[in-house]
Amino acid sequence: MKRMRILAIETSCDETAVSIVHFCGEKMIRVVKNLVFSQIPIHQKYGGVVPEVAARSHVAETVSLLTQATGKQQLKSFDAIAVTQGPGLATALRVGIEAARTLTFLSGKPLIGVNHLEGHLASAWLNAQNREKFKFPLLALIVSGGHTELVLMKDFCKYKIVGQTRDDAAGECFDKSAKLMGLPYPGGPHIAQLALDGDPHAFDLPHPMLKDPSLDFSFSGLKTAVRQSWEKLEIKNKKIRKNFAASLQQTIVDVLVEKTIRAAKKFKVNGILLVGGVSANQELRRQMGERIECELKKVTFLPSDRLYITDNAAMIAAAGFWRLRNGDRTNWKTIDAKPEWNV
Ligand code: KG4
Ligand code: ZN
Repeated sequence: MKRMRILAIETSCDETAVSIVHFCGEKMIRVVKNLVFSQIPIHQKYGGVVPEVAARSHVAETVSLLTQATGKQQLKSFDAIAVTQGPGLATALRVGIEAARTLTFLSGKPLIGVNHLEGHLASAWLNAQNREKFKFPLLALIVSGGHTELVLMKDFCKYKIVGQTRDDAAGECFDKSAKLMGLPYPGGPHIAQLALDGDPHAFDLPHPMLKDPSLDFSFSGLKTAVRQSWEKLEIKNKKIRKNFAASLQQTIVDVLVEKTIRAAKKFKVNGILLVGGVSANQELRRQMGERIECELKKVTFLPSDRLYITDNAAMIAAAGFWRLRNGDRTNWKTIDAKPEWNV
């Protein structure tokens, strides 16, 4: 297959990202540029993402990142443009989409609108070692701020959701609990940091849906239980805070790992992908890896590389490559944001 050079844009939430990735079949992939502007400091003072503020910041940053990434390169030196089309915040998505439409119009190159969740799936494939072991069927646990999903991957571009959250996402549970404890946004990494030397069994929190035979998740009940336990505490010293964070983290990890292992056994998959922002959690990675090694000897563990865990445009380029290779194209004249799009 001839080389394909993709220019990709991601603006679905609170990261503005632009990437240039060269694909030469499956073996040779070169991430030439991977620029990410994180809006986290901007949203921190509000305690969460404010959509209007996010969209305005994307407007300010997208052109600047595009200029930085492309330098003196001519638009015609790219073979395709990829852009996140959804899911995400409508006004934020539209900033990236409008930029991509303009580039497509000017260059005359094909455009591909990419599903952000498929981008997270492709993030695991950007790692060369993982790529070698990408043997379908695969199972993916997508855990991010807005999504907690188990996806059965029958092939590239052929997916089936086999489990999902019925209410809140795991990342949201981390973030809301952290806010309650007075930690900055986004709370996941702060909870993980506090948990490092806490006792994960100090607090007995409920494990939502663990006994339920379905592969679905639910984190809103846990969020409520966390609030009630926290408010009941009379002493909240450093040690208690550490123990509380460790117990919360362990509860979330228990549920995520157990349901993933169950799904992997049920669908007899060859490998398990762990992707999305929450997959940065060390304990989740460690315990998932251990359970797979212990109980699923023939199954390979395929977590995404640290560089591509949180939102970035290299993963959008990779998913765009899967789609373009599949013959998919998006009409630049009619493309619009799909805020609720699922894989
Ligand atoms: O995939 P992502 O960057 O954005 C979305 O598409 O949502 O995920 C962000 C989420 C946030 O909820 C954040 O708290 C969580 O990932 N996160 C973590 C860790 N690092 C990021 N959660 C737990 N432990 C971490 N180390
Ligand atoms: Zn994401």
